Formats: sequence, structure tokens, C-alpha cells
Amino acid sequence: MERLDKILSNLGYGTRKQVKDIVKKGRVKLDGVIIKNSSEKIDTDKNKIEVDDQVISYKNNIYILMNKPAGVVSATYDNYDETVIDILDEEYRTFKPFPVGRLDKDTVGLIILTNDGELNHRLIAPKWHVDKTYYAEIDKALDKSDVEAFKSGIVIDDGYKCMPAELDIIQADKDGSMVNVTIQEGKFHQVKRMFKALGKNVVYLKRIKMGPIELDDSLSEGNYRELTDNEMETLKKELNMIDLL
Ligand code: URA
Repeated sequence: MERLDKILSNLGYGTRKQVKDIVKKGRVKLDGVIIKNSSEKIDTDKNKIEVDDQVISYKNNIYILMNKPAGVVSATYDNYDETVIDILDEEYRTFKPFPVGRLDKDTVGLIILTNDGELNHRLIAPKWHVDKTYYAEIDKALDKSDVEAFKSGIVIDDGYKCMPAELDIIQADKDGSMVNVTIQEGKFHQVKRMFKALGKNVVYLKRIKMGPIELDDSLSEGNYRELTDNEMETLKKELNMIDLL
């Protein structure tokens, strides 16, 4: 049970005081009847709320798929740089979402934003082995020996041996290579450090997949949308969270 003014305020209808005014004016109906008391406790699973005769859909959690642009940091707050949260409209920011894992400032592509701590944990905790796939451009030619190195686990600069990873070479010549890399961990600068350990540099990095969720080609950089019901179902199935649907 939650207070009506809190629900409407969370949905972006204004401060509690502004919501109180909306309610006083008779613009809000509870189960078809005008309600004048904005502190009324509501069961969001059972009660129907209407504002100006529009039924509102109340939800506690938000799940956003963003195509992160370069130059934006994966944080909720930053003193200097624009964050992935700054890009969101107020109607989404009101849910207080945070990014699931991090992409470097210069990395683009898929990032999920949510306020669901449980889902966040299941997506980023290494023990769940969720695949993250990146498209990368590398400054040198790659060959089969690099594929083998990724498969057997690359030792990066701090001595850590990465879990086996998959390297698919799309194209490679003396000018550089285009690859897809799939890893299950998310160490700081991991993909860049893995290539560095092989004497190569990542010149472009874009995340294209996380678990079953793929970057939506129709989202240009800086754009976002909520995950669809289908995507949510697939994601929760894959993460064995079907009970939380
Ligand atoms: N690996 C990196 O090096 N950078 C990222 O942003 C993500 C994975």
C-alpha cells in the first residue's frame, strides 16, 4: 500500500504539494470515484487510478535500454561529465535508475539502466556468467593465435588471468581488424586490457549484447527506450528470475 500523493509524485505529476492541488481539484479518480484526499493509501495491484480520465499505469521498477554515446560516463552523478542518467527525460529519472555495470567514457553501445537492484546483481556478478558481447576495431591484424589466446584465458597487466573468452574475427588485414568479443566478466577496461596484453590496441569499442538483450539498431547513439515485455521475460528467464516477473 502506498500513499496516492507519493505514487503520483513518483510518476512525475509534481511535488506532493502540487499533487495535493491536482487531487483537490477533483482531477483524480480512485476506482471510478473522484477522490479528494491525497494521503489515501492505495493498493497499486488492485486499485485503478485515473488522472483527467486517463488510467495511469503504476510501476515500481524501470528497465531502460540505451545506446550510450561516447563522451558520457556510466554513473548516476559526475562533477565534470554528462552521465547516462543526465540524458534521460525527467519521467524516467524520477525512478532513480542507475547503470547496470559500466562502459568506459569512450565506449558506445548497449547499457541497461534500472532501479532493480536484484536484476543488476544477477547481470553483473561474475558467478552468473552472463555473456557480454562487444564489437571492436583493433589497430593491428589478428589471427588464429589471438583466438586461441582468448579461449585459454588472457593474463592482463595486473597478473589476473581472465576467464576464457570468445574472439570472432570478422575481418583482419595489415591496417587493422574488426572483431566480436564475448566475455563473462566486467573488470575495469577489460577488453582493452586483454588486447593490450597481446600487444594490440582497441580503437573503437561498442557493446552489442548483454545476456539475451541485443542493442536495438533503430536506437541511434544517445537514444533509449524501455525494455519490451518480451525482452523482460527472456531476460528474467535466462537469469532464473521468473518468480520476480
Ligand atoms: N571493456 C573495456 O575495455 N571497456 C568497456 O567500456 C567495456 C569493456
